[in-house]
Amino acid sequence: MFDEGKIVIVGASNVGTAVLNKIVDFGLASEVVLIDINEKKCMGESLDTSHATACVGSYNMYIHEGTYEDCKDASMIIITAGPSIKPGETPDRLILTKTNCKIMDSVMSQIVQYTKDAIILVVTNPLDVATYYVSDNFDYPREKIIGTGTLLETFRLRRILADYYHLDPKLVHGYVLGEHGNSGFVAWSTVDIASLGLDNMDEFLNHNYKLNKSMIEQKIMQVVYDVINLKGCTNTGIAMVVCRFIKAIKYNEYTILPMSSILTGEYGIHDVALSLPCMLNNTGIIKRFTPKLTDEEIEKMIASAKSVKSAMEAIEK
Ligand code: 2OP
Repeated sequence: MFDEGKIVIVGASNVGTAVLNKIVDFGLASEVVLIDINEKKCMGESLDTSHATACVGSYNMYIHEGTYEDCKDASMIIITAGPSIKPGETPDRLILTKTNCKIMDSVMSQIVQYTKDAIILVVTNPLDVATYYVSDNFDYPREKIIGTGTLLETFRLRRILADYYHLDPKLVHGYVLGEHGNSGFVAWSTVDIASLGLDNMDEFLNHNYKLNKSMIEQKIMQVVYDVINLKGCTNTGIAMVVCRFIKAIKYNEYTILPMSSILTGEYGIHDVALSLPCMLNNTGIIKRFTPKLTDEEIEKMIASAKSVKSAMEAIEK
């Protein structure tokens, strides 16, 4: 039996600590355990964050460093361990495949010793490779393993399109699908603004220019490397993505978000993890959806699958 309020975060670097801080700010757990191979850093981060709990939340929150044994009664485990792309490195998350799959091996083999009940959120890059690896190589219920996937690019789509039209990003609906990485794509056929129709917006807003979709898409896929080159990493956006998933699970929302999981024939694709819109509740993924995409979008989805699969070939070598 697990404790509904207990969350374990594996990895106490930029992303893990940003997630920890947001969980505390939003009051999303009664106990958060931080695990890292760097025990000193882990202790420092949890101690520092624990002081913040004295003035936030409507109930007592217990933040501490721990071990994998803490997973045994956790409701969620968030895997952020492993290096990320550094400024100046090849701008492709797939270069992290070998290193981070080894780390997933060590993390997951310890988790499965203690639980098969917790929902696991995979955040480590390359996201889809890591999600596949964790789901396929261990005896763990697949519906309980969720890769945060293209929800982050979908947030970026909302922000960038909203800035272009100078309106509220919450009015922008639609998905970035496929790889959380360079082969991901905006499924423009799913995009809408305030139920007014994306293609009508320039006219409605009296623009004398037309939305350049490929320029917006390029910006969405490139902006991650701009952030990395500017501040050394990305962590705030992804931490918000993780919290969105935590809320959906904690409050049994039956919501639909794009997320990564192993596909089982959607658009003819098998045996690779990619993002599609999925319904989520407190038991994990309960349904994957195949929106009606254009032929060109389906081709992009298939190309994304090929790209992730070919990166996975490096694992065996
Ligand atoms: C991001 O997109 C690096 O995958 C990370 O921010």
